[in-house]
Amino acid sequence: MSIASLRQEYEKNVLLEGTAKASPIDQFALWFDEALAAKVPEPTAMTLATADASGRPSARIVLCKGFDAEGFVFYTNTLSRKGREIADQPWASLLFFWQPLERQVRIEGVIDHVAPEDSDAYYKSRPLGARIGAWASAQSQPVTLDTLHAKVAEIQARYGDDPPRPEHWGGYRLRPASFEFWQGRRSRLHDRLTYQRTDQGAWAMGRLSP
Ligand SMILES: Cc1cc2nc3c(=O)[nH]c(=O)nc-3n(C[C@H](O)[C@H](O)[C@H](O)COP(=O)(O)O)c2cc1C
Repeated sequence: MSIASLRQEYEKNVLLEGTAKASPIDQFALWFDEALAAKVPEPTAMTLATADASGRPSARIVLCKGFDAEGFVFYTNTLSRKGREIADQPWASLLFFWQPLERQVRIEGVIDHVAPEDSDAYYKSRPLGARIGAWASAQSQPVTLDTLHAKVAEIQARYGDDPPRPEHWGGYRLRPASFEFWQGRRSRLHDRLTYQRTDQGAWAMGRLSP
């Protein structure tokens, strides 16, 4: 069997200008609630695409830990590859794929750091193993398993069960400049509604050809 013959019709939903929310945040919140209700696996998982200073892109999944009119928040190691790329070049893109609903959401914008108090609060809420891991893992650097396990043991011995938040670990917020909501439709005539932020801070809705 050739994988070229694998195909699926998308027909579960529609997305129309007349019923879409005027604000993309409200539209996102509606779709997010529907993803939760549909028990979409890992509904907060989003692909984060960044690029280095020369324009070379890279993408990975991170978990969305909050969203509102200000933007979309995730937590990571600020010295990781993504952290270094964001420091060089703050434009980035997020992508949610909610397969059971035949939906994708693309978001583009500029990333900045969340307030340190917010990073502290979220760090404190994490299980101890994850808090220790944030210290032990020089994320995106080469490592051996022995070194990693030794580092975990060293951090446990140093901080016990109350490690402080490492300075190199914290939250980022992508502030959206544009959204695209994609709803799969029959015969590949998908719905694609876009929202662009205007100079006045409002949102202008449009439709793209599928
Ligand atoms: C389901 C899933 C959730 C993930 N969540 C996070 C996350 O919230 N933060 C994070 O730093 N990495 C997360 N990762 C790991 C990243 O995809 C990636 O491997 C790591 O952040 C290093 O990326 P970088 O080298 O591009 O910086 C997750 C991976 C998966 C598959």
